[in-house]
This record gives sequence, C-alpha cells and structure tokens, in this order.
Amino acid sequence: MRKIGVLTSGGDAPGMNAAVRAVVRKGIHHGIEVYGIYHGYSGLMNGDIKKLEVGSVGDIVHRGGTMLYSARSEEFKTPEGQQKGIEQLRKHGIEGLVVIGGDGSFQGAKKLTEQGFPCIGVPGTIDNDIPGTDFTIGFDTALNTVLGAIDKIRDTATSHDRTYVIETMGRNAGDIALWAGLAGGAESILIPEVEYKMNDIIERLNRAYNRGKKHSIIIVAEGVGSGVEIGKEIQERTSFETRVSVLGYIQRGGSPTAADRMLASRLGARAVELLMNGKEGRMVGIQDNQLVDHDIIDALSQKHSIDHGVYTLSNELSI
Ligand code: F6P
Repeated sequence: MRKIGVLTSGGDAPGMNAAVRAVVRKGIHHGIEVYGIYHGYSGLMNGDIKKLEVGSVGDIVHRGGTMLYSARSEEFKTPEGQQKGIEQLRKHGIEGLVVIGGDGSFQGAKKLTEQGFPCIGVPGTIDNDIPGTDFTIGFDTALNTVLGAIDKIRDTATSHDRTYVIETMGRNAGDIALWAGLAGGAESILIPEVEYKMNDIIERLNRAYNRGKKHSIIIVAEGVGSGVEIGKEIQERTSFETRVSVLGYIQRGGSPTAADRMLASRLGARAVELLMNGKEGRMVGIQDNQLVDHDIIDALSQKHSIDHGVYTLSNELSI
C-alpha cells in the first residue's frame, strides 16, 4: 500500500483532528503518501482531495472540529454515488481509505469495501453509540462539557431552590446523559434505553424535598423526547419551580480532553497498520483498554447498549 486517503464524516467530534494527524503521520512514518479528502463523502465524489504532508497536520492536535471538514451526504448512499467516489480514489492512485465518523460513516465504508475498495473505520462521534468499542472519539470531551454545564446550573438551582431539566445530545443513545448524570449527581436520568414513568420521577423529587433538598437536576437524553415538554409536565404536576436548559451544539465543540487525544492517536495509527497489513472492511476500537478490530459488517449488525451497571449505580446513589 503506497497511497492512502483519510476523511471525516457525519457530526464532527472533538479529537477527530488528533485522529487525522495520527493517520497522516503514521502513514508518512512508514513511507506511505496520505491524501486528505475534504467535506466527507460529498468531497470524495467531487474529487476534493489533496496530498497531506507532516506539516499539514501541525497545530491541530488540540483543536475541536475537523480540519478536513465534514458533511452528511444522501447521494453517497446510492450505488452511483459510491462508484463516483471509487473513481475519484482510483484517479488519485489511492489504494485504501480511513473513514473517521459515526455509524452513518461506517455504512459508507462498508459499501465501499463491498464494492472492492479497502476501508477501515475509526469511531468518531460524541454519542458513544458504536458497537465494538467501549468508547468513541469525542465522547469524553462532550461528557466533560455537559458535566461543566451541570455544575454551573447546579449553582443557580441551589440559589433559587429550583428544579432544572437539562437536555443532552446523543441521538438514540443515552451514554452522554447517563455518564454526565452520574458524575454530576443528578436526581433522575432519563435515557432511551430504559423506560421511565413520570410518576417515579415526581415521587423521587417529592422524596428529596421532604428530606430537605430544595433543588434538583434531571437529565434528559434527546432520544427520550423533548426536555421542554418534560419540564412543563413537572411544573404542572408539582409545586416546584422548574426551568429547562437544552445544551445543544456546545456539546460537539471544544478542545479534546487528554483521553480523547490519546484514543484518537491510538485508533488512527492502528487503522493505518491494518491497511498496511492488507486488512479491509474492519473497524478499530478499544475494549477493556486494549486496541481491537472487528469486521465492520458484524459490528454494524449489532446494537450499542448502555452499561446497565452504571445505570443501576446512578439510581442507588441518587436516592
Ligand atoms: O451524532 C452527533 C450528533 O450531535 C447527535 O448527538 C445529534 O442527534 C446529531 O448529531 C445532530 O445532527 P446535526 O448536526 O445534523 O444537527
């Protein structure tokens, strides 16, 4: 393998830049030319491709977002779009591709591999919803951003004796809400993976109030529904003054944490090693702190699940 490409796709995640840097520098270290494909699969189809040097990825390890830009492409979901992409890769003499992104991006990598173009997927999404890895690049940074917000909101919740509902991102996965809720001491955590009853939430609020606690934090993952609606219902059914905060896109930005930079560097470099060893159609990940790789099709056929032990613990600690 003499020439490889790298692209980022789907929702950007802090640490994607560190992963791009690792792919480029690991490749160059082994005498491979590395090409950056800009604007995800859209840029791939349009031939938005440039050779990257050691210096092209300087000064990015600490930056959020992605220097390669990102996009979500409907056209690339079609066989014609995928053929267009493969033609562009072949035109540039590129023999293998590293795709950094979430499950939509992995679907694209899977299609390219099925059509004869070797790809390796690197999990990069704040949602932590990719099967086959304990953590995705960007999750730890998003988690710490949410935790910072909870701590700040707690200050005002305490000062005003209020109940706050905080809505977090995560698409259909509850990991951001669950981990931030446990680490932030939330009274209740609502996630799509576990059914909830509003009566239980209200009973929990009343119990805490009767114990002398005058403020509460409730975390709602976006996959459960609207935090605003849940806040309204709490306000209507209790005597507690309730406010809602939807954290939104701040969860996707910011300088990556040390954990995300480490993960991105290790996974990006491992993806290059796999291509060098003639592997294709695989995803890299980390499980029990060991680097692993799995067949991308097998991984995509599985469902991500939360750590139920963490959920149980959060309930036990927020009595
Ligand atoms: O996958 C990352 C994510 O931020 C999800 O948490 C969220 O549901 C979605 O992307 C938002 O997507 P968009 O950038 O298209 O609004």
